Amino acid sequence: MVLKIAVQKSGRLYDDSIKLLKECGIDISNGVNKLKAEASNFPLEIYFLRDDDIPQYVEDGVADIGIAGENVVYEKKKKVAVVQKLGFGKCRLSIAIDKGAEYTGISFLQGKRIATTYPVLVQQFLKDNQVDAEIHEISGSVEIAPGIGLADAICDLVSSGSTLFMNGLKEVQPILQSQAVLIKNDDLTEEKEQLLQKLLFRIGAVRKAKNNKYILLNAPNNNLSEIIGLLPGMKSPTVLPLAEEGWSSVHSVLNENDFWDIIEKLKDAGAQGILVVPIEKMII
Ligand code: PRP
Ligand code: ZN
Repeated sequence: MVLKIAVQKSGRLYDDSIKLLKECGIDISNGVNKLKAEASNFPLEIYFLRDDDIPQYVEDGVADIGIAGENVVYEKKKKVAVVQKLGFGKCRLSIAIDKGAEYTGISFLQGKRIATTYPVLVQQFLKDNQVDAEIHEISGSVEIAPGIGLADAICDLVSSGSTLFMNGLKEVQPILQSQAVLIKNDDLTEEKEQLLQKLLFRIGAVRKAKNNKYILLNAPNNNLSEIIGLLPGMKSPTVLPLAEEGWSSVHSVLNENDFWDIIEKLKDAGAQGILVVPIEKMII
């Protein structure tokens, strides 16, 4: 019995999807660039598919789970459950217009032609904002539509913005924030559900580790309690005596977000020799 996962076969999500599986200790080195690969050390079969098709395959049960962008999951309106946001592939679905045009707000779109590969999400956005516009569904290279007179605006994914820039367009209105998510089929068997939980446990450990750093520093004993007070740690910081009288070595874990702020305070409190190292996995 294996769990079948669908991942994008090439494109924006491919590298990070494969990297995530690797960081979860799953070895698929034999199968990359094929249509299908089997992990050698986890009951997992990987299907490489077009991202737009992944929600359909997961709904049909061809794959049990999949990694896809929220943009396609919501556009395709398939019966799949979003299990976990994965923190990569961040982008937004946005309206863009000619860079010389003046955007006057959503009403600018009234009566205009919008080219997109996301007709469902664009329609919803127009409806929510009570704007009437004509949607031209096209299947790719949306960014050239205004230039060839096919549309007055487009709605497409924007990540770095360079595609828009290169085509003389500007982003004027985001309609959806998106990132990669793990989706699952609605009726997984008990056994498959258990495998999924095992995989999710690993994904959680990898993601927590990414947001945290291990910190080691030397602290003068006369200021030890102030320094310890600055460090949250998993339970509490580890404190070990240094060979030099009057000093201790303090070890702890810091969240990326508080990082620079706390480092400043530690230095002010007399901490020295501060080392910060990445954490590979974090189980708490
Ligand atoms: C999206 C979008 C743009 C590009 C934007 O394509 O259609 O072409 O990314 O990225 P940028 O702002 O960094 O230039 P995607 O990779 O999703 O490929 P697809 O449309 O073929 O699925
Ligand atoms: Zn796509």
